[in-house]
Amino acid sequence: MRSLGGRVLSLLYFLAPTLAQNLSDGQVALVRQRLAEGATKSWELGTRAQTLLELDAPSFSVLTPAPNIVPPIIPLNSTANFTLSDVLSIAQSVVSNLSTTSVPADGRPLIDGDGSAADPASIGVAVMLANWTSLPGPNYAQAIEAQVTYLLGGQVPKSSKGAISHRVSEVQLWSDFIYMVPPTLAYYGVVTNNKSMVQEAYTQIKLYRDVLRDDHAKGLWKHIELGSFNDSGHWSTGNGWAAMGMLRVLGTMQDSQFSGSFKNQMKDLGNWAFEIQQAMYPQLQSNNLFRNYADEDNSFSDAASTALMAASVYRLSLLTGKHTHLPDAERSRTTLFSLSNSSSEAASPAATSTSPSSARPSTGTSSSSQISPTATPSPTVFSSAQHFTSDGWLTPVVNPNSFGDEGSDSPEAQAFVLMMQSAWRDWVAAGAVGANGALGRHEGVATWGSVWLALLIVLWI
Ligand SMILES: *[C@@H]1O[C@H](CO)[C@@H](O)[C@H](O)[C@H]1NC(C)=O
Ligand SMILES: *[C@@H]1O[C@H](CO)[C@@H](O)[C@H](O)[C@H]1NC(C)=O
Ligand SMILES: *[C@@H]1O[C@H](CO)[C@@H](O)[C@H](O)[C@H]1NC(C)=O
Ligand SMILES: *[C@@H]1O[C@H](CO)[C@@H](O)[C@H](O)[C@H]1NC(C)=O
Ligand SMILES: *[C@@H]1O[C@H](CO)[C@@H](O)[C@H](O)[C@H]1NC(C)=O
Ligand SMILES: *[C@@H]1O[C@H](CO)[C@@H](O)[C@H](O)[C@H]1NC(C)=O
Ligand SMILES: *[C@@H]1O[C@H](CO)[C@@H](O)[C@H](O)[C@H]1NC(C)=O
Repeated sequence: MRSLGGRVLSLLYFLAPTLAQNLSDGQVALVRQRLAEGATKSWELGTRAQTLLELDAPSFSVLTPAPNIVPPIIPLNSTANFTLSDVLSIAQSVVSNLSTTSVPADGRPLIDGDGSAADPASIGVAVMLANWTSLPGPNYAQAIEAQVTYLLGGQVPKSSKGAISHRVSEVQLWSDFIYMVPPTLAYYGVVTNNKSMVQEAYTQIKLYRDVLRDDHAKGLWKHIELGSFNDSGHWSTGNGWAAMGMLRVLGTMQDSQFSGSFKNQMKDLGNWAFEIQQAMYPQLQSNNLFRNYADEDNSFSDAASTALMAASVYRLSLLTGKHTHLPDAERSRTTLFSLSNSSSEAASPAATSTSPSSARPSTGTSSSSQISPTATPSPTVFSSAQHFTSDGWLTPVVNPNSFGDEGSDSPEAQAFVLMMQSAWRDWVAAGAVGANGALGRHEGVATWGSVWLALLIVLWI
């Protein structure tokens, strides 16, 4: 039997438009500083770039619903576009490092992928933005063309059905691929006005899903199949990579000149991302965190995948109006952002001393708070948080270089925190529709849904 207190709590829960809990500007600045220091591997650089796009320059992110922002229609130049500065500098440092000897006919990756064929491609969107904004420096267009040629050409093995391998040495499919490659192919197809390239992004996701989706686990994705070893476990981060990658391709199609031609593909992508959420959330533990392997009892709690999955829930809600798992995402988010000393934290000078610098102009592309990339965070802003170390690392997290093991100081986990923060911010700015998990597309529907639910609960009490 649930106590009366429990019922009243659930009543309050349904009525609450959002569960307040927010990172201060100083905390966001510290998390992003750790991300900047930690991200060195190919996929970490690409993930960091996408994360900063969502955080600093949402107008240029395909996850922001807006017609025809791909390619960006806003007049751009690199000096004026302060909000893109960190994203562009990632592209600049990566492409500047490429050898200046002539590009092989069958292409080359943007950076060494440590054996992964897919991970270097994750930097592609940042490189295309650098090209588009005419960022001075190396030849960005040539670099991204070589990257795409490399993926589609003979150097990277393909499965018998045509799936591009995640690995260089043999055909092997990893769930991570969905975040690393299809979003870049789709964006490249839109920028170069090549519809079949956009279709290719969708096809790759479909081919991967055919192999990695586990019918025996209600649609959870396996981590690695084919090749000399496999990891048929349901790695939570991999499920998150897949869901977020699908949503980026969906957003790219939705914002593009081809949106009218890809209605069915967009519907599939939304459904497939939702399918992962439907399979994952029943596995959420009572501590509001996923285990590293979602359905394995002895697997440790992992805050990284928890943040990434929650980000996917806000984004799915914004892109498709499907709100089912918002209460779950809100539970995870408030848990991860809970500060045992939260009231003193918010009021502390340390937390407010790092507001965005007014010295440099913002282009006004973001409707909500932008965190200055130049803010210097105070190291004390996380002094008593439950899920952050005092220097701002999310914890507990899987080791990003050894997916079965618990680790610490994970750059990708820092990115997932910021993805969740900006997804939540955008969802709140759009009216926090569906906070109660209602299916309605419009706020009115959701609000009336809450009222009826509350009435029902009152009657039940
Ligand atoms: C979160 O906190 C930041 C910094 O205090 C503030 O600018 C922002 O408006 C808050 N966001 C929401 C959605 O409450
Ligand atoms: C960048 O754009 C701004 C505003 O349109 C303009 O004033 C400035 O001259 C431009 N800078 C360059 C280098 O093109
Ligand atoms: C560029 O190359 C230098 C020297 O090899 C290396 O230290 C640096 O990490 C590289 N930067 C990137 C973004 O790959
Ligand atoms: C590079 O940017 C130009 C616009 O400056 C655009 O026409 C071209 O399609 C872009 N190429 C790529 C590969 O992004
Ligand atoms: C368009 O994309 C396809 C891959 O789907 C590629 O084979 C083709 O060469 C591209 N067309 C152009 C004009 O680049
Ligand atoms: C892959 O996993 C399956 C099922 O767990 C197993 O039977 C098979 O031997 C594995 N293959 C390799 C190459 O490890
Ligand atoms: C608040 O933080 C201080 C200093 O870190 C700590 O000693 C104290 O126990 C914390 N209080 C709570 C309620 O966690």
